Amino acid sequence: MGLQLAERVARMSPSPTMAIDAKAKSLAAQGLDVVNFGAGEPDFDTPAHIAEAGIEAIRQGKTRYTATGGTAELKAAVIERLRIEVGHRYEPAEVLISVGAKHSLYNAIMAIVSPGDGVLLPVPYWVSYPEQIRLADGEVEAVPIRRADGVLTRADLEARVTSRSRGIILNSPSNPSGAVIPPEELQAIAQFAIERDLWVISDEIYGRLVYDDAQQVSIASFPGMRERTLVINGVSKAYAMTGWRIGYAAGPRQIIEAMSSLQSQSTSNPTSIAQAAAQAALTGPQEAVEAMRQEFDRRRRFAVERINQIRGLKAAVPKGAFYLWVDMSGLVGQTIAGRRIENADDLALAWLEEARVAVVPGSGFGVPHFFRLSYATSLERIATGLERMAALVEAG
Ligand SMILES: Cc1ncc(COP(=O)(O)O)c(C=O)c1O
Repeated sequence: MGLQLAERVARMSPSPTMAIDAKAKSLAAQGLDVVNFGAGEPDFDTPAHIAEAGIEAIRQGKTRYTATGGTAELKAAVIERLRIEVGHRYEPAEVLISVGAKHSLYNAIMAIVSPGDGVLLPVPYWVSYPEQIRLADGEVEAVPIRRADGVLTRADLEARVTSRSRGIILNSPSNPSGAVIPPEELQAIAQFAIERDLWVISDEIYGRLVYDDAQQVSIASFPGMRERTLVINGVSKAYAMTGWRIGYAAGPRQIIEAMSSLQSQSTSNPTSIAQAAAQAALTGPQEAVEAMRQEFDRRRRFAVERINQIRGLKAAVPKGAFYLWVDMSGLVGQTIAGRRIENADDLALAWLEEARVAVVPGSGFGVPHFFRLSYATSLERIATGLERMAALVEAG
């Protein structure tokens, strides 16, 4: 027989956001000038004082195993941030540090989803949620978001809840739509979770990146929610630390202990030196976060205005994260660069091959006639990329 794939991975899809990114990078490696709007990470370098803390940790010999769930110092820093952002005082035993927020989510889903459990998943969703639910043998219960601004409502959840539903995955600000759920709607969702006895995983990784009048509130802050919510966050997006791989989860002790056990048998602790850097990020000066947010805001306003001028494309103004979520249904059935366009996959391929611009088609996020454009690249590159996209579409 030899080596064979296990059934659980055979039915899994690789991350489509990484696939387009890989293709764009390979064209760039061939010397082609590709504008890459595919990336899910800030284009800024990690702020110097944070990088220094990592280097200093190596010099000081902080290069051994730490406690599985993270160092006491980093946990204390996370607890202080949670106090500011969520408004609760979590105990160290209610916090787990993992290898990025993706790993925190994986631990969480593996710890709480049993075979056959329904998980309400708002659509569009970040690509990894459905795959992780399926890996745990859970059932994805897709919840189409009906509001044009991408905000999930209690009514959306009510329309899709079943007797098998056990929990909800929330992601506000959202990847891919950038939508931020306002406090009053979040409160209605919290009430719904309590009435239906559902747990909530609240992925708040983009919480520091909100714009205009948007307000970032954690669903865990509402009465009765702390005991049924797992808050997920990390340093990747706010501090431009995607490569350091530090994320965290906070929630009921019993769940955190189970997640910690899983982690102890799989990865053990996240990298010791990255933990030291993350501690510096959370406890040190926060000016860099605000400077990056302001720069993203400038790009956001420019990009959304320009994209809405392109024939057949429509995007709501995103209130958070660093993505535009663009409806391309106005181009379905048309011919562009000699290709018949049926969905965003066709359009993304045409832009990549004919105009050297990479965007991520919406199929991986559950909506095949949308695409995601990341504006985590310079204003100049955004302008160049959008001109190329417009030129190809206008040429027909
Ligand atoms: C919604 C969402 N959650 C979690 C993650 C994972 O972040 P990390 O780099 O901390 O694993 C991402 C990264 O793209 C994301 O977009």
